[in-house]
Amino acid sequence: MSSQTQAHHHLQKLNLLTQTGADTDMGRLLRQFWHPIALAKDLDAGQAMPVRILNEELTLYRGDSGRPYLVGGRCRHRQTVLHTGWVQGERIRCMYHGWQFAGDGRCTERPAEQETTPPAIANIAAHAVHEYGGLIFAWLGEGEAPEFNLPRKDCLEKDGVIVVATKESWRINWFQQIENSLDATHVSFVHQTLRVASFGEMVTNAIPELSYSETEAGIEQTARRGPGNVRKSNWTFPNNNHVVVPGLAKDDPWIDFVIWMVPADDEHSTRFTLYAFKPENDEQKQRFLGQFEKYGQYNADDHYDELFHHRRGPVEGDVIGLISAQDYLAQRGQGIIADRSLELLGRSDLGIMTLRRIFWREMQALRDKQPIKAWRKRELPLELPTQPGKQEATLAE
Ligand code: FES
Ligand SMILES: [Fe+2]
Repeated sequence: MSSQTQAHHHLQKLNLLTQTGADTDMGRLLRQFWHPIALAKDLDAGQAMPVRILNEELTLYRGDSGRPYLVGGRCRHRQTVLHTGWVQGERIRCMYHGWQFAGDGRCTERPAEQETTPPAIANIAAHAVHEYGGLIFAWLGEGEAPEFNLPRKDCLEKDGVIVVATKESWRINWFQQIENSLDATHVSFVHQTLRVASFGEMVTNAIPELSYSETEAGIEQTARRGPGNVRKSNWTFPNNNHVVVPGLAKDDPWIDFVIWMVPADDEHSTRFTLYAFKPENDEQKQRFLGQFEKYGQYNADDHYDELFHHRRGPVEGDVIGLISAQDYLAQRGQGIIADRSLELLGRSDLGIMTLRRIFWREMQALRDKQPIKAWRKRELPLELPTQPGKQEATLAE
């Protein structure tokens, strides 16, 4: 291959990582997995909302029974958006000329067509949904949805755990965020910027020694910053990361931080984060819930100017927002879609290379009409160390 052809080939491979439409390799791959699409608390029974995921427009609604349904974004008749319509029982009716659809996409009524049964050609798309951990998940593949198992986390299902879910929308391609979660070195720099909170103090600015290994569920990442300062993260294919972060007060138990980074389209992504906390007493519980009540709305992308032009982060005390603002600065600073053809990777980028190789391998399998790896929830609990010097970690995945 000439060096020009090689460069072109490399660029094509890089583009595969960032394009998620239905007719792209990554789009086909991601459609084999469950993804969160909404916070459960944002959707009341009898309400509908638009959802944008993987370059598709969809309508999410909850029937009067409370059950969620995900159908096409637009009415089959004249293509107005469906979420502006009426939810009636378990169905939704378009506000334009009253066509009605069931949760499985079937058109059940066309009032002005003078017919008893609408033809199948009037049906719209429908997708499987599943509620878990305060989130509504969807599966956008073809055929039967797989069992809802890979996204489950033991830390969310333990007795006495309280879970808070947040959602952020960033104008950035999804893959930058995935790469960042497998870049343990960034923690030593990014989380020291704007202001150093307990997370930055705990991790320190020491350069970690890194190791990565592929597991049945994804990638296990280990960052060693010295004896007793070992940080592990449990990354699950294709877009979830699980780490632990310090509690809100010095002696509070640590918090499980579980995040999904989902493409809305190629220039926007949605971050769904679950914070799971097991309080030892009521004071810790109130502190935790109070934190989210007070600050849980911070969306870094709404503060672009403040962050980039004035270097001003969220208010003092909003530690969760601060972590997010720091990560946003680094990743949004790469551009909406980072130009990876210009990057210069080194040994600290081992996680990023590991990650890309796995994605390229899986996309190649799909292209070759071969099965992809049977990704499944980890059987062995992964110890996620909680504090430097405390080897007897108490929080486990
Ligand atoms: S556009 Fe929906 S009924 Fe006409
Ligand atoms: Fe980070």
